[in-house]
Parts: sequence; structure tokens; C-alpha cells
Amino acid sequence: MIFEQIANGGCQSYFLGCADSRLAVLVDPNMARRDDYLALATRHGLTVSLILETHTHADHVSASRALAEELRAEVAMHPASLVPHAGRRLKDGETLKVGMLGFKALHTPGHTADSMCLQMDDRLFTGDTLLIGGTGRTDLPTGDAGRLHDSLFNIVLKLDPALSFYPAHEYKGRVSSTLGAELVDNPRLQKRDRADFVEMMRSLGLPPPSALAASLRANLGSGRSDAELKEAAPRVAARNLHPRMALVDLRGPDAVAASPIAGARHIPLGELEMRLGELPEGELVLVCETGEGAALAAATLNLLGYKTAKALHGGMAAWRSQRTT
Ligand SMILES: [Fe+2]
Repeated sequence: MIFEQIANGGCQSYFLGCADSRLAVLVDPNMARRDDYLALATRHGLTVSLILETHTHADHVSASRALAEELRAEVAMHPASLVPHAGRRLKDGETLKVGMLGFKALHTPGHTADSMCLQMDDRLFTGDTLLIGGTGRTDLPTGDAGRLHDSLFNIVLKLDPALSFYPAHEYKGRVSSTLGAELVDNPRLQKRDRADFVEMMRSLGLPPPSALAASLRANLGSGRSDAELKEAAPRVAARNLHPRMALVDLRGPDAVAASPIAGARHIPLGELEMRLGELPEGELVLVCETGEGAALAAATLNLLGYKTAKALHGGMAAWRSQRTT
């Protein structure tokens, strides 16, 4: 077997080749290393036929869509994933084979709802479910600390302690670890009580990834640019606002204090994707000063499954004119 680990900053991806079939598999390819995967395939004389994504990435742009198009490779993800170009869905317990390489999917939600670990013989690709000395965070869209606890302690850590695992993030240059070593040394795994684990994750207070919303749009948006997504975003005119619609004010605190919108939920634009749990129920109307930021935010929410989110066309000027007529 050919095995290459490709790092881009803290992001880890993997190139696996089968010498018999001359086929290769990529795990979590990163757009920043696209050319390196192509060079590896050429150097080893292999054809990439499968791209496995352990989950929907929210901190970098995946190369899966671009490489799938370019190489006519299949992209496989868990059925819970909203990634539109993942044509193959791998259910929990299902095994996918490429030549002599076999990958068994273990659904391990928590970091995201669509997180999977992939077991291949003597190694496990853990995505962001389990990291060396850490775990994935659970405060990004679809994250859930309780589910991560269950995935770790009821699934991953029940596997053979001697199993080597390879994470999707590693920041200190380490290549792999074993499950047994993590059970002893990993600080996050010392909180084995579910409530304690959830409280530990809740109290981490991590800053959002720098390119969170843009990464989500790139990975979920079928190759459309931000300008295209914004252009196509659903909008509502101020005259068509209805009491059943739930207003979400995306302006900064100073603007809101100066001219509040009665009844609106206030979530500043830069915090929206980290605070999805605070969104009101029902038909969402996003409001910002000009309507443009709200349009892009509505596009992002739609990609994340909030199919009724719309932007108030014309922003606050439209809102104010409606109030005075
Ligand atoms: Fe992740």
C-alpha cells in the first residue's frame, strides 16, 4: 500500500494507493494542496478514483469538488452531509473497497452531524472526532458535545487500543497516535462522565475559525462564487413582511442601540454561523444596513439547511421607509 500524509498548516489529508489496481483514494483533500495530490498520483502512476470526506469542513476549502470533476472521481460522505457533490453516501458500518483498500465507515457525530471515522485494516482516519491530544470542537454548525462524547466513548474508544489513528488536524507535527495512548494521555478524554464532558467542551470558548462562513459556502455551494450565491439569495421586500416572519438583525451593537428593530433577534453578522442555535423558529428574515450582507448570510443559511431564510431587500433604508408609510 502507498500511504502519504499531506499537511497544510494544521490540516491533514491522506493519499492512499493500491499497487495492484493502480487506484488511489484521497481522504480530506485540501484545496491549498490540490496540485500536490495530482503530482502524487502522477509520481506513483495511480488514478484517484475515490475521495473520502470525514465530514463537512468549516475551517478550510476542501478540494473534493474540484478534484472529483477533474479526475472523475467519486466523493463519499455520510448521508447526513449537505455537501451536494458527494454522490456516494456511506452509511454507518458500510465498507467501500478500492482495489485492495477497504474503508469501513463509522458514523461518529459530534464535531459535526455528518462526521465519520474510516477504518482501514490497521489504521483509523478519525477526521475531527479524535485528534492527537485533543478532540474536534463542537461549537460549529451541527456540532453537539453530547454526541461527541457518545461517539468517542461508545464507538471509537471501544475499538482495539493498539489501533493507530490519523486525524484531520494536527498542529505539532506528530503523524499518528494509538487509541490506547490517547485514553491515557489525551486531556479531553479524562472527562468520561457525559455531563462533565459537555461542560468542558462548552467552556472552551474557542474563537471562530477565521474563514468559517466562506469555507462553508465554498464546501456546500456547488462551486458558485460568493457573488453568485448572493445574487441568487432569496430576498423579501419590506412591504411583504408579515408578522409570522422572524426578524434577525445582523447589524453591530452600536447600530442596533441607535435604531433597534422591535421584536428582532440580534445576532451580529460575524457571529451568525456560531450562534445558529439562537435563531428563532419559522420563516427567517435577515436584516443588515444595506441588505447585501444579509443576502450572503441568507445564502449561507440556505446551504446549511435553513431553507426559508431570506434577506430584507434594501436593508435598513427599506425597513425605515416601510415604517413611515
Ligand atoms: Fe472539522
